Amino acid sequence: MIPYRDVLKEVLIPEDVLQERIAALGREISEDYIDSKNLILICILRGGVMFLTDLMRQITVPHAIEFMAVSSYGAGNRESTGQVRLTLDLNTDIYERDVLLVEDIIDSGRTIASVLELLSARRPNTLRVCTLLDKAERREVYVPIQYVGFSIPNEFVFGYGLDLDEYYRNLPFIGVVDLDKYPSKE
Ligand code: IMP
Ligand code: MG
Repeated sequence: MIPYRDVLKEVLIPEDVLQERIAALGREISEDYIDSKNLILICILRGGVMFLTDLMRQITVPHAIEFMAVSSYGAGNRESTGQVRLTLDLNTDIYERDVLLVEDIIDSGRTIASVLELLSARRPNTLRVCTLLDKAERREVYVPIQYVGFSIPNEFVFGYGLDLDEYYRNLPFIGVVDLDKYPSKE
């Protein structure tokens, strides 16, 4: 894979701005769940991993973490197919627990809508969504989102957990892809 600088159009959200916002989200979540007895953060792999690990360090109330994975994109595709498949299920029963879903980005909303439907059938006490990024103008299905890090314009972004064909998740900032240098395969 080519160096990230060769596909980066611009840095959309620098590291210090990300971290400051994540600290504020952590404070808000800590206040909201102060009385919770069994909070569990569920990270949707793989994009949400970096956000989860930074966010949980800013949450001061006791909580557990869990992971699940879904696939919604075909190879070389940057659009949700609408069909979301569960590829890794939870190892924990969420019945009557306070569940907070931690996502990297909500685009069409189809992925998170499917996950919400699946998890609500297991009857948690509460079920909320925390997303780092929200591409609101791309929304195709309504999803309630309680915590949003940043609303961003309709551009393909990468870094800080988000990938470009599985690479560059390690970058500590969110960047915009230069589509002239890295066109979609479709
Ligand atoms: P949705 O089902 O259309 O809301 O898609 C959500 C998923 O698409 C996210 O969890 C990401 O994995 C992926 N995604 C959407 N937009 C971007 C982007 O700009 N960069 C990287 N991944 C994205
Ligand atoms: Mg994702």
